[in-house]
Amino acid sequence: MSHTIVIFGASGDLTSRKLIPALYLLSKKKRLPEGTRIVGMSRTEFSHDAWRDELKKSTQKFTDSKFEEESWNKFAANIYYHPGDLTQLEDLQGLKWLLEKLEAGPAERVYYLSTAPRLYIAAIDKLGESGLANQEEGPRRIVLEKPFGYDLGTAKKLNTDVNRVFPEEMVYRIDHYLGKETVQNLMVMRFANSIFEPLWNRNYIDHVQITVAEEVVVGRRGGYYDQAGVLRDMFQNHLLQLLMVTAMEAPVRFDADMVRDEKVKVLQAIRPMASEEIANETLRGQYAGYRQEEGVPRDSQTETFAALRLWVDNWRWNGVPFYLRSGKGMSCRTTQIVIQYRHPPHSLFGQKSYVDACRLVMQIQPAEGLQLQIQTKVPDSGMMTRTSPLDFRFCKEFQGEMPDAYQRLLLDAIQGDASLFARSDEVELAWGIIDPIIQTWRSEKAPTLHLYETGYWGPNESNDWMAEHGRQWFDVC
Ligand code: BG6
Repeated sequence: MSHTIVIFGASGDLTSRKLIPALYLLSKKKRLPEGTRIVGMSRTEFSHDAWRDELKKSTQKFTDSKFEEESWNKFAANIYYHPGDLTQLEDLQGLKWLLEKLEAGPAERVYYLSTAPRLYIAAIDKLGESGLANQEEGPRRIVLEKPFGYDLGTAKKLNTDVNRVFPEEMVYRIDHYLGKETVQNLMVMRFANSIFEPLWNRNYIDHVQITVAEEVVVGRRGGYYDQAGVLRDMFQNHLLQLLMVTAMEAPVRFDADMVRDEKVKVLQAIRPMASEEIANETLRGQYAGYRQEEGVPRDSQTETFAALRLWVDNWRWNGVPFYLRSGKGMSCRTTQIVIQYRHPPHSLFGQKSYVDACRLVMQIQPAEGLQLQIQTKVPDSGMMTRTSPLDFRFCKEFQGEMPDAYQRLLLDAIQGDASLFARSDEVELAWGIIDPIIQTWRSEKAPTLHLYETGYWGPNESNDWMAEHGRQWFDVC
């Protein structure tokens, strides 16, 4: 069967910045199935050629030195455009007619909703009504971008509405963190090396830290961000995905449902927080200057930083806290997972605490790699020890740049592999963890909102909070 990707919201930023560059680079590397058609739809009027010209300019900009005229021309010959409103039945019927004409036979289709999330439900209904979701004419997959709802209730409604038109195995919910090479490498590291797994549990691990720090501030996204806040924007999806991949059991096979079954079990094991525990188990902050951002109310209480302590109550992780933190306006951009091993049972060389024990730092971005920090003897100094790294860097080991997450995810959606996409139960369980925290943060029981200066590691109180737990953050830029 031939392949067609239909992008709704084709004139938007995501299409030009991420989707088309990723598809072009896949085509240049000859990974895209031969002849794959790309059909864009949005309300802006373009002819096929005018849209190709627009995309050529943006792709040149976003792929930079990787852009080549010849491979672009070959790729662009399969790009088409259909102007229309995806919530209007007649416009979708027009699209259907165009698709059938182009495909001239059975084809696999991916519908990519790169539109405002408020249009999702209306759009999906119309895809159903117009017959575009009819699976008898070939597989019809749908790709959705986050946010998947605004809270548990809206997420459930969205899932029900989507599943009324598309069966769950045809729904691909993108979390671009799962498309990052280093997140996939975390599974490879854990399950393709037998030396880590025996030590990957409560007997050897003191705690786990997951940090997603961003140097950028909210900037022009204030209107969206102030409604979302860091828990909806980063924790419900990206940070919980990192936690799941860190804590999951090995699936029997690398198969979409088997992988996702194991991830779901992690979320099911997360201890629910009672509202009176939330003040101790969470910390909230806002960077100084956030209230002056465009679209942000001057008295906004929205968090731009959060830290949570979560417990995974199962056999492997009982008693091991998972510390998660993320914020904007931080010291640098870094995503890392730290596995802090326990202190050896008996100290021969004067190490006092877990800080002097072995630590595995998995750098997800931007300095992609892995560091095992171990104790070594300092030469010529008696038996003094020091923490030293065993260092692996992707850029030293492998040639070429890391591909953008969208390349892997788009290719998987085209090939029908949903392993790296969120399933409906996963999304709902994640909301079930985050929602009660947001509700308490919006109530009179809310813990203090700590202000912090940009350029550091969030509020100072976050260090005090860790110290109260007898621990400290490991800040590595
Ligand atoms: C997005 C959030 O999902 O992820 C943004 O909406 C955030 O606020 C971004 O900046 C971070 O992604 P990355 O890949 O740059 O770490």
